[in-house]
Amino acid sequence: MQDGSKAIFIPFFIVIRWNILRIKLKSPQRSIYDPSLAGRRSTTSFPTPPQKDDDNSSVSYVDNVTGKVIVPGASSYNGLNLVPQMGWDNWNAFQCDVNESLLLNTARAMVDYGLRDLGYQYIVLDDCWSIGRNESGYLVADHTLHSMGMKFGMYSSAGIMTCARYPGSLGYEQKDADLWASWDVDYLKYDNCFNQGQSGTPQISFNRYNVMSQALNKTGRPIVYAMCNWGQDSPFDWAYGIANSGRMSGDVSDTFNRPDSRCPCTESIGCSWPGFHCSIMNILNKMAAVQSRTMSGYAQDLDMLEIGNGGQTDSEYVVHFSMWAINSSPLLIGTNVLTLSPANLAIYSNPAVIALNQDPSATAAIRKWRYLVNPDEFGEGEIALWTRSLDNGDQVIALLNAGNASMMMNATLNDIFLDLRTAGAYQAPPQLDEIWDVYDLWANRMSDAEAAAIINGTSMTVTDNTNGTVTRYNATATSYAQGLMNNDTALLGAKVGSIGPMGTWSAMIPRHSVGLYRLRQRTSDLRKRDEL
Ligand code: GAL
Repeated sequence: MQDGSKAIFIPFFIVIRWNILRIKLKSPQRSIYDPSLAGRRSTTSFPTPPQKDDDNSSVSYVDNVTGKVIVPGASSYNGLNLVPQMGWDNWNAFQCDVNESLLLNTARAMVDYGLRDLGYQYIVLDDCWSIGRNESGYLVADHTLHSMGMKFGMYSSAGIMTCARYPGSLGYEQKDADLWASWDVDYLKYDNCFNQGQSGTPQISFNRYNVMSQALNKTGRPIVYAMCNWGQDSPFDWAYGIANSGRMSGDVSDTFNRPDSRCPCTESIGCSWPGFHCSIMNILNKMAAVQSRTMSGYAQDLDMLEIGNGGQTDSEYVVHFSMWAINSSPLLIGTNVLTLSPANLAIYSNPAVIALNQDPSATAAIRKWRYLVNPDEFGEGEIALWTRSLDNGDQVIALLNAGNASMMMNATLNDIFLDLRTAGAYQAPPQLDEIWDVYDLWANRMSDAEAAAIINGTSMTVTDNTNGTVTRYNATATSYAQGLMNNDTALLGAKVGSIGPMGTWSAMIPRHSVGLYRLRQRTSDLRKRDEL
């Protein structure tokens, strides 16, 4: 948590004299942040191809510049964001209509609604911030955000202008990074517009984004670096070494599956024009091929959440939240928190689902199968099984029905553990012979009445996790990883059955809905008793 004594002062003249200040500001004499001191990799060049490390037999890489052996994914390039960032960003709901009180009032509501303590800590000011000033010249006056236990995010573009045509940072990276560090900024979202043609190959994009990565490190301030290049030039292959998250698609829109010609790609591989107006299903399916590139310290960003913006049904928003969560996407609330409905607060607040997102494995889910069925008025309809292994051996399954009719859907243990088969000669993994208890992660969704009481300020405050509630959780008091070790019931949903050896989990899933379950291996003692 940030030191509340530090202030964020953003004088008005800096806004209107942005370009002049770039010339006038001297680089502060700060200590140089050296990633190697923290055992992190240097990021000045591409790594050489994978090599076998004879000592520990794990796949490792030798950094071209330092000669150090590093293990990709073992940790973050700068030590930050080992699990995906959570917070709020104004863009989806407000675009350029931002001001100081919106940010501060949103932050206050997030504290009051328990959202901060569920992990939503970053308040990210998106594009157009240079007009969001108050009369006395301060954007975010004094230390208010940090003293609320929130962190402060800013936005710029790796181009000469931002997407809304405000000054960008291309060519001014170090000056801008130093300025943000002097404002105690904790997070940078870095866009891709007006990049002067500096894209088209992975190397060109890497070089452009790496300049800001190095600049942020040099400030000496820990700043989460959220790349927003929309998946252009395959960041899946190079961004883990220079950033903490990277957008993998064109911009999200508040629609479940409506195709839109402005979002022309249906696959992330080879997509040269990511565009915008991408639906939830479009973005989700683009994750399937590149999911292996999500790792601790580098989250693939499916874009900000649309829950609350009105374009989808309740069950579609549940799909959106569930699939973003299990894919370890950053969870950035993208709606007006001040007018949040109880139903939408209940979705954003489900601790059993957030625990999947914040799992230390920090991996994305695997789409094990997908069939095109039951098309709707847009000609879209499909069902899919997504699965993921969690840090403690638990499994996640998502039975996703994006078709236009209810369906009985099945997940076999064989599908769930497909990847544990031995390559070459098939050997059945031992997990197939176990009993798995099944926990429905939406079964304990808080009621609208409980969510309304939170919004009205008439509910209890969750200061720790000894309150016996299954609907609420305070991750500031107890981390999700610790809560899982404690078997905190708020993180487990409700047990709804089990899968026997070689068995199948079957559930009726309504149209445009998901069945989201955590599977936990039954202990051998229990199993013996079961078999008697
Ligand atoms: C887009 C970006 C959006 C938003 C917008 C602001 O490129 O993907 O998330 O930041 O620019 O203009």
